[in-house]
Amino acid sequence: MSPPQPLARITGTGRYLPDRVLTNADLERMVDTSDAWIRERTGIHERRIADDETDATVMGARAAEAALEKAGVRARELDAIIVTTATPDRFLPITSCEIQAAIGASRRCFAFDLQAACTGFLYALTMAEGQIAAGRAEKILIVSTEKMSTIVDWDDRATCILFGDGAGAVVVEPSANGEGILSSHHRSDGDLAELIRRQAGGARLPLTPERLRDREHMVQMAGPAVFKSAVRAMSRASLRVVRAAGWSAGEIDILVPHQANARIIESTARYARVPMERVFVNLHRYGNISSATIPVGLDEAVEDGRIRPGTNLLMTAFGAGLTWGAVAMRW
Ligand code: UT7
Repeated sequence: MSPPQPLARITGTGRYLPDRVLTNADLERMVDTSDAWIRERTGIHERRIADDETDATVMGARAAEAALEKAGVRARELDAIIVTTATPDRFLPITSCEIQAAIGASRRCFAFDLQAACTGFLYALTMAEGQIAAGRAEKILIVSTEKMSTIVDWDDRATCILFGDGAGAVVVEPSANGEGILSSHHRSDGDLAELIRRQAGGARLPLTPERLRDREHMVQMAGPAVFKSAVRAMSRASLRVVRAAGWSAGEIDILVPHQANARIIESTARYARVPMERVFVNLHRYGNISSATIPVGLDEAVEDGRIRPGTNLLMTAFGAGLTWGAVAMRW
């Protein structure tokens, strides 16, 4: 889709990662796995785990404050806050309102949660872009905050090795000089809903002692099927937004993909024709932080100087739903 006007750009990034590191060696003591298997099949070496006091709101607020500071925007100037999370602190109130209060944003601001699993950040970016193009908001905060350690089954070796905790945030504002989001493409496929799910705890299967005992409220995933869909979806979405942005593959300066599995990232990059030296990877340090992977990656890439003014940035993600998408942006 071609970009609405004015373009929307990211003016500040921030992240928060808990201090506690859970290594593959630690996991060897918890489930029947090995450091060698995890490294070879996923690329993950370690992940961060938040303590009991550090919930989605706390992590999100820390990342948000860092992003606001870098953007030079005060919390009370915000027009909107969009929070993406698969681990809201409570079902009600929504986490975005909790973060609104935690960072001292004003009542003029509207806040809402957006649920698109690991693709949430890219969906939120496009929602923010639309608000800016419509002239309804000028300063929008997106916070992606995930305490995945509370929803993974620590006895299930197929999933517990993959995920970690953390938060990333960005400030989105209108741009006047041609930088910003050039194209985006989002899709979802409810026919594949059962591939990644949490069965119990919602309206259909409220929690009971039996369901809690059977861990039906934890993440269940058909890993290999998700793997195949992920590569196909992210590479096609990437090719589409690159074409719509008017770029050739050689003009992509950096690809910041969702960090779920090193083999997924490598295959996606190959199909999208981006050499690995232009792909941002921090999966080995953090594992899969669901929707927070891309904003955390952006903040690190900006800090490292890999993203600078004028950089052609490609982002792509997929997640439960299934949902997927890609965004091309000139920084
Ligand atoms: O953000 C979206 C979230 N989802 C994803 O990104 C998931 C995408 N999928 C994947 O990343 C991969 O499918 C996994 C990493 C989850 C699994 O890797 P795989 O290469 O697809 O393994 P598999 O499920 O086909 O299992 C191969 C073998 C099996 O043993 P057998 O049946 O061959 O004897 C599994 O039981 O590996 C075994 N296995 C493990 N072995 C050691 C599965 N998990 C583990 C483990 N340690 N942690």
